[in-house]
Amino acid sequence: MSKKVRWGVIGAGGIADRRTIPGMMKAGNAELIAVMEIDMKFAEDLKEKYSAKWAYDNVDDLLKNPDIDAVYIASPVEFHYDQAIKAARAKKHILLEKPMALTTELGKEIMAECESNGVKLAVGLMMRFGAYHQRMKEMIKDGALGQIVSARAQLTCWYPDMPDNWRQDPARGGGGALMDMGIHCIDILEYIIGSNISKLVAFTDTKTFKYKADDSSAVLFEMENGCTGFVDNNFNIPDAAAQSFLEVYGTKGSFIAKGTISQVDGGEVLAYLSDDELDYDAAQDRVDVEAVKIDVEFGDMYTRQIESFGRSILEDEPVLVPGDVGLRVQRLCELAYESSDTKKIIDV
Ligand SMILES: NC(=O)c1ccc[n+]([C@@H]2O[C@H](COP(=O)([O-])OP(=O)(O)OC[C@H]3O[C@@H](n4cnc5c(N)ncnc54)[C@H](O)[C@@H]3O)[C@@H](O)[C@H]2O)c1
Repeated sequence: MSKKVRWGVIGAGGIADRRTIPGMMKAGNAELIAVMEIDMKFAEDLKEKYSAKWAYDNVDDLLKNPDIDAVYIASPVEFHYDQAIKAARAKKHILLEKPMALTTELGKEIMAECESNGVKLAVGLMMRFGAYHQRMKEMIKDGALGQIVSARAQLTCWYPDMPDNWRQDPARGGGGALMDMGIHCIDILEYIIGSNISKLVAFTDTKTFKYKADDSSAVLFEMENGCTGFVDNNFNIPDAAAQSFLEVYGTKGSFIAKGTISQVDGGEVLAYLSDDELDYDAAQDRVDVEAVKIDVEFGDMYTRQIESFGRSILEDEPVLVPGDVGLRVQRLCELAYESSDTKKIIDV
């Protein structure tokens, strides 16, 4: 194989065009050589835009190209399963967008197919490559917040009724606000805190729009380390009204992050830390702790995601976001829907 992974992109016109291909163009170990879109003119336009070599309007022809080492599958979720199975059989490594497939059962089949064909699989949970997220994870691991006891992650957008929209139909997208955005929130909390959710209870509903997918969801959880918390996702809160809060509280302090759960590596993290052993303060006087602004070097999460998987392919580095992580967080979303339907707390 050449020193660069030669990529083909399946479903190149959505998030791929908005974020991942621009990120790929900056990756030192990647070369975009082929794009596939359902409309040939659109595929040709994307080929020109990114100076790729080939444009396709179907997956089968793209997969026949022997020069392609890996594919990035960024089509609507309803097509992930068929396309990933075909790509594995064509011996292409796969970066698969979240959720991996319409159900975790189908996701498991994709993992098995990749394994039996000897190809690597990574899942597009790119928030793990956010500079702030990696920094908070390190600091929590080093004990900066003490014992982690409470956490919250929020992601919303304004997503009104649109005709024939796959994301608004759970049969085509696998869920709604929770499956689409909550999957990132759950993943990033487990990643940063370094513990997995062991119990959850959820409320999901469609309150504002006419579509079948949930436009509102709230998940309350407990982790294996005892941390309890909350994940809230809405398609009915305007982008500008919510700040994608990410909060982690421990016995020695907290992180309050704004805008880090985002497609742009940015936002702000304030740390409120107390070094001293605290005595109980009967007067409950609020001592003002000075917020420490955490500084990081921003980059591009999508570039880091592509470079990381590229190293897994070229240098056999472990895949940082493998299929079992993708399956696990998708399963948590499925269980949250079950909890909402059955009105029960679920043991994971
Ligand atoms: N990680 C992230 O930052 C992020 C952000 C948004 C979306 N996503 C994920 O990416 C995937 C796509 O989401 P999107 O927002 O780009 O959707 P989208 O609908 O905006 O774009 C999907 C693209 O796929 C094309 N397409 C349609 N049918 C196809 C088929 N059968 N085969 C190949 N391509 C086809 C469409 O023409 C469109 O250009 C989903 O899995 C979604 O959850 C990830």
